Amino acid sequence: MTVALAAKAGEVEVLHWWTSGGEAKAAAELKKMMQSKGHTWKDFAVAGGGGDNAMTVLKSRVVSGNPPAAAQIKGPAIQEWGDEGVLANLDDVAQAERWDQVLPKVVADVMKYKGHYVAAPVNVHRVNWLWANPEVFKKAGAKIPTTWKEFGESAEKLQKAGFIPLAHGGQAWQDATVFEAVALGVGGPEFYKKAFIQLDQGTIKSAKMEEALSTYKSLKKYTDKNAPGRDWNLATAMVIQGKAGMQIMGDWAKGEFLAAGKVPGKDFICTAAPGTSNAYTFNIDSFAMFKLTGDAAKAQKDLAATIMSPAFQEVFNLNKGSIPARLNMDMSKFDDCGKQSSKDFVATAKSNTLVPSWAHGMAMHSATQGAFQDTISQFWNTDSMTAKQAVEKLAAAAKVQ
Ligand code: BGC
Repeated sequence: MTVALAAKAGEVEVLHWWTSGGEAKAAAELKKMMQSKGHTWKDFAVAGGGGDNAMTVLKSRVVSGNPPAAAQIKGPAIQEWGDEGVLANLDDVAQAERWDQVLPKVVADVMKYKGHYVAAPVNVHRVNWLWANPEVFKKAGAKIPTTWKEFGESAEKLQKAGFIPLAHGGQAWQDATVFEAVALGVGGPEFYKKAFIQLDQGTIKSAKMEEALSTYKSLKKYTDKNAPGRDWNLATAMVIQGKAGMQIMGDWAKGEFLAAGKVPGKDFICTAAPGTSNAYTFNIDSFAMFKLTGDAAKAQKDLAATIMSPAFQEVFNLNKGSIPARLNMDMSKFDDCGKQSSKDFVATAKSNTLVPSWAHGMAMHSATQGAFQDTISQFWNTDSMTAKQAVEKLAAAAKVQ
């Protein structure tokens, strides 16, 4: 199939924020594949987990009329860029490579602007995971928690035994990542959908939301004093090194464990965040392509085809911690966390408990998301702020667009 699209060699400049150990290994696979097809890879990496920095840099490049070939843009933000009229139409590649047939419809829809493909997905990340160091748990005589009540009990034991119970990085997107998991666990998927997708005022102002916020805030005493500003991968390293017992983070964290040579089930445990085993917050990384001309445009189409190829989807995701976005992939090389994610993705899609991660740009307009994120961080960092005050702020944030 790719033969029909065989492109003349060109340069592809690719903007991403994959700079941690596991992320960089995964990104290198794309670079390798493009280079093996004769293209020149121009790396445009902007450090900063969650991608806030990358998005700021991207805006200034596009405004100055000099966009990269492709940029890591996700979820509803693809529509926002589509509205700007700057994205390339990838329908010819998509048709030749049968993207409509090989992608789940929920994924394909996100990649289209007004019915035309403008982006290609690389993976599906699950966000509602708890990562734990079993050795630390053993030493503390604690059990891996499955409810938020148990989380508190285990955290107390870990603390008494001299460990940091929860490794956290105090950055707005990480605060939001933890809160999102707590809210899903406390309120369940229907509550989650009403609050964060429909932005229903009644649900945002409900007693459940206050409970979710209070539960979230109760975790702060289990983090260490150096948490503010810490990068997520350094928090993962604390679990890897046995300084901390747990981290609540999406499965890009698994990429760090693997890059450190750790074995799932033995050196580290992956399990659904407390109270969320029957639900799945998804976060799909994708590359939107910008309008280009000449050889660069041809190389760009080859990039799109490469991203969607089974070989790339396998090797990239083995390193990244996520699962392929393509359907019917052979999962035999994936570890138990990957197999679990794949199984749960299918099961939760059926039971309607597969929900987009708002903390990772899958659910809201970017301005709304920013306002939510600010509120959650402010609440985390301000001891005098009550859950009731935070609820009021969230209700106002829901109206920001
Ligand atoms: C992205 C992941 C990335 C993580 C940390 C998320 O928003 O989807 O690909 O690994 O941020 O940088």
